[in-house]
Amino acid sequence: MTTLVRKPADFRQACDDARAASRRVGLVPTMGALHDGHFSLIDEAKKRADFVAVTIFVNPLQFAPGEDLDRYPRTLEDDLAGCRERGVDLVFAPEPGSMYPAQFQTRVSVGAITKPLEGGFRPTHFDGVTTVVTKLFNLAGPCAAMFGRKDYQQWRILSRMAEDLDMPIEVVGCAIVREPDGLALSSRNRYLSASERKRALGLVSGLRRACDAWLAGERNPDALRSLVAERVQSSFDRVDYVAAVDPETLVASEGTPTRLLIAVAAHMATTRLIDNVVLGEDPRP
Ligand code: PAF
Repeated sequence: MTTLVRKPADFRQACDDARAASRRVGLVPTMGALHDGHFSLIDEAKKRADFVAVTIFVNPLQFAPGEDLDRYPRTLEDDLAGCRERGVDLVFAPEPGSMYPAQFQTRVSVGAITKPLEGGFRPTHFDGVTTVVTKLFNLAGPCAAMFGRKDYQQWRILSRMAEDLDMPIEVVGCAIVREPDGLALSSRNRYLSASERKRALGLVSGLRRACDAWLAGERNPDALRSLVAERVQSSFDRVDYVAAVDPETLVASEGTPTRLLIAVAAHMATTRLIDNVVLGEDPRP
């Protein structure tokens, strides 16, 4: 049975009760509009824990003015059905006012790792993410928390935050889930028209080019980056970045890489998509 709770105190109590009954808590923080990418996080949580809690909250703090907060899909009934089907124990879907009451004035801020890539284009985004995730971690208590590696930088930042702040949380990064044609699953894919969706495949096709070159022995980050950039530039309307950086620091490093993160953010009409691959580690997308 899947229980729905709306109040932070009820969420905390349910997680405390689970631990008191010797159940390990697995946490899957989401903004809803659940798809197979989220369901793979739930599956991973079920492997690692025996009480799975999914949070569904479109966090206003991580959207800048002009971003898609208002049109972000809200599909609570479908999400609940999906959670029930997969045997989720608890869904926490708070109202914004209970997460951020009028007097709320705290931010959690991580350092250098938040500045490149997404941080260059969405300067307030990660403070919003780390603040809400800190609240969710504090409410859930000791647990294993699942995050998708499509938001690679987010996963790295949250791992750093948990370690830096001695949070009793195991932060788990889970593999990207893709459509059969390679498009990475995202709640924002539903904004794409059929022709935009087709053009969006330029992203994965660019990443594949880099993978193939890497497998053929190319190790020059600029050369690998250019292979991706060419494809993305020719298929997207605007490119925020195509980066080839160290997967730990998220900035360019000296010498020949043994692993290399290729990360991309680009706009297709009014939709902004991100994707990535870690060469030398991930399978070909
Ligand atoms: O990745 C997301 O869906 C969100 O950024 C998260 C981690 C749920 C925080 O709102």
